[in-house]
Amino acid sequence: MTEEELFDRAMAARQHAYARYSHFLVGAAIEDDSGAIHVGCNVENAAYPVGTCAETGAISAMRVAGGKKIRRIAVVAGPVDAAATVFCAPCGACRQRIAEFADAHTQVLLRDDRGVVRRFDLSGLLPAAFGPDDVLPASPVG
Ligand code: THU
Repeated sequence: MTEEELFDRAMAARQHAYARYSHFLVGAAIEDDSGAIHVGCNVENAAYPVGTCAETGAISAMRVAGGKKIRRIAVVAGPVDAAATVFCAPCGACRQRIAEFADAHTQVLLRDDRGVVRRFDLSGLLPAAFGPDDVLPASPVG
């Protein structure tokens, strides 16, 4: 899948965002290491802190589908009442969630409404990360 197609999937997911409180709609699309795509959107809640990010939803979708590793994740975001999308780097908690299923090659891709793409390795967004290997060398449950 091309990068543009991955962003298209993130944009389509963003249309389902439930951003009633922030009015900031986010979509994420993961390509796993088998090439399968998994998407998510942010889902807010009247009890604000329990809302979930788009990346979190996409990771859950990946797990449900049997995906194991994130090869690339594309994120798009912007206000509900404007066509403009802005660069939206994953929040700290989502960086940690991505790291759980990332490797040295995992890429985080961001795009704004001018079509400019910013590419990061996860290690650039979360240096010296605490990860699964710091707890257990290998997990029996994958
Ligand atoms: N949000 C995401 O879904 N992903 C991010 O990377 C940053 C923030 C959501 C959370 C909340 O619903 C809204 O954007 C405003 O913070």
